[in-house]
Amino acid sequence: MSKTYQIGVIGGDGTGPEVIAEGIKVAEVVASKHGFGIDWCDYDLGGARYLRTGEILPDGTVDELRKLDAIFLGAIGHPDVKPGVMERGLLLRLRFELDLYINLRPVKLYPNVDSPLKDKKPEDIDFVVVRENTEGLYAGAGGILRKGTPHEVATQESINTRMGVERCLRYAFDLTQKRNMGNKLTLCGKTNVLTYAFDLWERAFYEIAPDYPSVQTDYAHVDAITMWMVKNPEFFDVIVTDNLFGDIITDLGAMIQGGMGIAAGGNINPNGVSMFEPIGGSAPKYTGLNVINPLAAISAAGMMFDTIGETEAAASIDAAVTTALVSGKIESMSAGKMGMGTREVGDFIARLV
Ligand code: IPM
Ligand code: MN
Repeated sequence: MSKTYQIGVIGGDGTGPEVIAEGIKVAEVVASKHGFGIDWCDYDLGGARYLRTGEILPDGTVDELRKLDAIFLGAIGHPDVKPGVMERGLLLRLRFELDLYINLRPVKLYPNVDSPLKDKKPEDIDFVVVRENTEGLYAGAGGILRKGTPHEVATQESINTRMGVERCLRYAFDLTQKRNMGNKLTLCGKTNVLTYAFDLWERAFYEIAPDYPSVQTDYAHVDAITMWMVKNPEFFDVIVTDNLFGDIITDLGAMIQGGMGIAAGGNINPNGVSMFEPIGGSAPKYTGLNVINPLAAISAAGMMFDTIGETEAAASIDAAVTTALVSGKIESMSAGKMGMGTREVGDFIARLV
């Protein structure tokens, strides 16, 4: 009997639902070709619901999501909701409560995609960032004392546990081995200044390394990494780093691979439910115009299949995206400049999978 997966869908705000619709379209075709089924369970979450009902994420919903095979997320972020409310209340809460401890972000230049690094070829820009996703400066440790007075003090501490760091590092070592595309793992840190946090990271990194003899280890400071991502992206195979550095360098990664329109990501709990998303945000000004690029959402569906074990289905999505781009028919990765609409890009990929 063929398997049926229960996949939660959080379209969310802005252009989120539009790009997710194209991801679902492609996923349905791929699933039927590869002999499995999907039950899509829709969740009305995001800024719009919050403004309507005051609810961000009911506890019961987290428990329901925990039982699914995967979660497919569009985007969270509404112009009328104060920054931080949805981010902490929904996105970060899901990352923490579902223990999505890996944030996996491939940086890959597809053929015919314009990167600002004009002379670099697809073989030069093909690496993955493994971002720790539940600790660091995102843990929310710290506080404000004497708020609003001249003596105000604000602290925000980076939390790094040996357990949290080690499971992230081990994931990165495993991935480097499995990718087998250079077998090089670079730790991105700041050991010259953050002498406590990255001391722990660096010690754990070199203590674990002997368990992975085929992986070559390397270290670079985060500031140098940003420089090399632009100048010599071919240096990198897998980069592993903490939560905030990972947040920053993956936006840079998205730009060198051609923009947010093609940048996908996964929030992964290797022992539980994982959540996949285009990393570009809700782009409110493009909502409902059929102009937003759905390729990132489609690729996120591919990452989702890879993680739940449907690796052939995942590979066929990546191959279809590559074929579509090789054809040159999608003129740009930018919203409104693709030479076709959001739905037409989705139809195009759905024909190729
Ligand atoms: C991301 C986003 C989030 C983050 C925001 C929306 C909280 O930028 O997924 O990279 O900082 O992690
Ligand atoms: Mn980010």
